[in-house]
Amino acid sequence: MHYAGDLGQTEWTKSTLDHINKSNYDMLLLPGDLAYSYIFQILWDSFGHLVDPLASRRPWMVTQGNHEVEKIPLLHREPFTAYNARWRMPYEESGSDSNLYYSFDVAGVHVIMLGSYTDFGRESKQYKWLAWDLKKVNRKKTPWLVVLVHAPWYNSNAHHQGESESVDMKASMEDLLYQFRVDVIFGGHVHAYERFTRVYKDKHDKCGPIYITIGDGGNVEGLATEYIDPKPKISLFREANFGHGTLEVFNATHALWNWHKNDNDEAITSDSVWLTNLSLKSDCHV
Ligand SMILES: [Fe+2]
Repeated sequence: MHYAGDLGQTEWTKSTLDHINKSNYDMLLLPGDLAYSYIFQILWDSFGHLVDPLASRRPWMVTQGNHEVEKIPLLHREPFTAYNARWRMPYEESGSDSNLYYSFDVAGVHVIMLGSYTDFGRESKQYKWLAWDLKKVNRKKTPWLVVLVHAPWYNSNAHHQGESESVDMKASMEDLLYQFRVDVIFGGHVHAYERFTRVYKDKHDKCGPIYITIGDGGNVEGLATEYIDPKPKISLFREANFGHGTLEVFNATHALWNWHKNDNDEAITSDSVWLTNLSLKSDCHV
């Protein structure tokens, strides 16, 4: 499974897509910010043409970013008009009432796509659906549990600090995802790559999810190069460069995560780590 966020449609995007195209992947997961249309529908069209050679051959599963909201007063009655029409995901199949959050199973992984830009408080429909969906997960059938969200809950880049979509959504949902032993939470939004250790409530926790920011797909706004110094202990790897990530699930216990930079040959990985499944760890049983 490939991961690339904040894709856009630049020469950097083309480089990311070329890299993705060189490997035989099953599915692309995109944690938001697709076309960077800035409400110009022709840019949604050109983005569709750009990704069509890949997206017509493999499932591209996406969730929304801030660039998908597109709610201009007088022009739009509802947010997400173009996104919901052009990137309709199979949300009904997972009992969700919205294209903005849904889940599915693929190759031993239960993937949950969350919405940073729709209600996420504990009384919200999204929260209630998430709690219901997590309860149904059968870790014998899908040992791996992965979540994607646009605005990252952990981030040591100087960009996008303190935004409600990160801080308040984390405050609302972190306990729930910890309780159900989510393996990895992917974010985008910050145009860089960062990998954290297992974290719960801002500290290392052996039963917490690993957080990975993969907002480095290649959009027109460029890279987020400034970082909080010194690096927090919970951040294990961070670099502002364009690229994409791959998660290879080998079996119920082991998966390999790699980050590939566009500057290098596809065969070269710049960050690589073996992940062990949380639900099977005796001291982290659900
Ligand atoms: Fe964003």
